[in-house]
Order: sequence, then C-alpha cells, then structure tokens
Amino acid sequence: MKKTFPEKFLWGAATAAHQVEGNNTHSDYWTMEKLEGTTFKEPSGDAVDHYRMYREDIALMAELGLNTYRFSIEWARIEPQEGIFNVEALDHYRVVLAACQESGITPIVTMHHFSSPKWLITVGGWESEGTPARFARYCEYVMSELGSMIPYVCTINEANISVGIAKVIKQFTAGKETFAQVGLQTDMQQRMVTYYGALGKAFGIDPRQVQHFLSPRTKRGFSLIFEAHMAARVVIRRVSPATKIGLTMSLFDIQASSGGEENAQHEHQEEFLQFIPYLKGDDFFGLQNYSSETYGPDGLMPIPEDAERTQMGYLYNPEALEQVIRYVSKHIDIPIIVTENGTATDNDERRVEFINRAISGVHACIQDGIPVQGYTHWSLLDNFEWMLGYTKTFGLIAVDRNTQKRMPKPSARHLGTIAQSNACPNEY
Ligand code: BGC
Repeated sequence: MKKTFPEKFLWGAATAAHQVEGNNTHSDYWTMEKLEGTTFKEPSGDAVDHYRMYREDIALMAELGLNTYRFSIEWARIEPQEGIFNVEALDHYRVVLAACQESGITPIVTMHHFSSPKWLITVGGWESEGTPARFARYCEYVMSELGSMIPYVCTINEANISVGIAKVIKQFTAGKETFAQVGLQTDMQQRMVTYYGALGKAFGIDPRQVQHFLSPRTKRGFSLIFEAHMAARVVIRRVSPATKIGLTMSLFDIQASSGGEENAQHEHQEEFLQFIPYLKGDDFFGLQNYSSETYGPDGLMPIPEDAERTQMGYLYNPEALEQVIRYVSKHIDIPIIVTENGTATDNDERRVEFINRAISGVHACIQDGIPVQGYTHWSLLDNFEWMLGYTKTFGLIAVDRNTQKRMPKPSARHLGTIAQSNACPNEY
C-alpha cells in the first residue's frame, strides 16, 4: 500500500543567506573569513550568487516538484549600521517572497542563521544584554513590512548550537578527536590565538569580548539567545499575527550503550530539555538533525572504524531523524517541521538512500500520530559550509562556481518526485 503523507505536507529544501547569497559584506563572518589566522578554510566571496540568481533557483525548485523553500533574511543587509535600515535590501526579500508566491512555493523564513551584522559584535554580540531588544527591533521592521507574505518564521537557527560547539572544543582539547577529521588544520589552537588577536582588532574591542553566534557561550549567553527569540515572538505576533512562529534546534539522536544512560541523559538535558520553557507560546518546532551519538560510561563513544561516515565525519545514519522526532515529541506538544536534514557526500546515490530512509522514518512518526508538518532538506544548493568553505557538498543541486551554472543531482529529482507523489518512496 502507498504510504502517503498528510495533505499540504511541506516538501522542500533549505539554505541560509550567508552560505548562498554572496558578498555579505556587512556581516561579522565576512570580516572573520578574511582575518590573519582565520579558522575559515576560504572566504565566502560570491558564494553561489543566490542574491542575484534567487529567481532562477526558486523556479528550479518548483520545476523539481518541491513546494517549500526555507531561506534566511540577512540581518546585516537589512540593518548594516545600528538603527539604520536598508530599504533596498528589504525590497530584495519582498521580491524573493513574491517569486515564491509566483512559483507556488511556501516560504519558511529564518530571521537569523548564524551570521550577524558586524556592528552587533562591536556592541557585545551574543553576550550583550541589549541583543534581545536589538534582534526584536530588526524582526519588527522586517515582519511589519513583509509578514503578510511569510506564513512561517524561524526566529533563530539552531538556538542551542553552542552546546555542540563547546563539546567539539572539549573533545579537541582533550585530544580525543582532531579537527583534521572534518578537514581543519591540526595546529588549530595556535591559529585560534592569532585569529582572536586579529578579531579583536577588526571589531575594535578586546578579543575576549568578541561574541559571534558560534562562539562558546556562557550560561547567561544561552539565556540571551532564547530571550531574543521570545522578544522577537512578541513583536512578530503583534505586527504579523497570521505568521506561525518557531525557532530551530540542532539535535543529534543521543543513544546510550550499556552503562552510558546517565551520560546520555545529561546530553539530552544540555542540548534540549533545558531550553523547553522558552518554547512556550511557539506555534511549531524546527527540528534539525544530521546524525546520532552514542554515550557509554566514559562519555561519547567513538564511531566504529568500519562504519560509514559523511564528509563531515558524522556517522551516516538516516534513521537518526526518526529517533529525534520521537524523542522531541515526548517533550513538546506543538507541531514539528523538519527544517534541516541531509548528508554531506560526493556520492549522490548515498544522498538518495539517505532521503529514502529519513523520509520513511518521518512517515512512521506521522503514522503514530506525531504532528510532523514538513521536511526541508539541507541543502538546496552546494554551498559555503562555514569554516569548512566549499569543500562539503550537502546540495541537491551542484553549482559550478566559475559560471554559477546549476546542475540538479538525481537526488533533487528524487526528492521532487517524492514531493509530487506525497508518499514514501516505492521501495518502502
Ligand atoms: C546549519 C547549516 C549547516 C548545516 C550543515 C546546520 O548546523 O544550520 O548552516 O550548513 O548544519 O553542517
């Protein structure tokens, strides 16, 4: 029997402004990518020129059969200087939203996806008490102008991400895992020192005060991020009452091997459970998952030697998504949208398989009554993978960055076919 999805299920793909648009010159990362000792493998530059080619990309999505596009509005473009809003940038996103409408694509808009205006860092960044209000002011400006065209808004992408970053840094300093696994230099620590020196100079503040979104967070810093979400929710509700509001979180499927139950529970608490109170009043939860982690009595267990890994060094585990959805649904009672899920690979057949297995898991959850309303694959296009530059390929569509030509991979057509049939792939 055909395993169908609910009517109006959101099938799509996701991007983030800084990773695809190109020339995000007023942002913090644009500055950081170019610094001496930078931890970025390469600068983002023109990225995949999506700021110019959005129309073609949206039309291509529709042609592939997808009905949803998750993308982000870039704060640094909208408010390049504190308190000064750029009408041209706002109008750009107005036209992007209109292009979605024309193509029958439902937009899910993210207001903050890692990159911030450079000025925000100078005034204290994501550890400043003033940041929730600043973020809400930017959201109010955008949503009062564009909200009527935005059915879903994610205020902040991966609000919990610094928990994971702190973990990677801990593993690195404990010498358990090297950054070489994900393609970074092993002399990272020394480079960090140089980089942070240059960073302080570039932002005109003490380097210890440079707090961009992916910096290790203090406890108060975490609260500030979630307070920014809540402050944004209040203003968005007021200026655009019809828009559904949520945030997104990065969640590994956390498993315990024998004796690791307590460690696993600790991770659940750190990564997810502690933040639940802030979600009260949200309309949906944006769930993002890429893999799983297993905890034993001594902590995080290494990935078995013979297991398949993605280009990111993660365990290839498409079933992780189903497990995370099930876990999350036990703790919250709002609809879930899978706002990111995917795999970095240069073997597109592995992506097709990943999609089949992940989607089959989503279907099983829905069958069991869990309200999953959509699935947006990461990513629409091969793009700028932050510090790792253009070396990791998550895209359904390849891009020749010399010509900016788009080349849909078989996985793009595959996901489009699934979307059109609104059912699990045949083999499941
Ligand atoms: C982020 C994306 C990133 C993706 C793949 C997520 O954590 O939201 O910006 O490219 O993972 O690593």
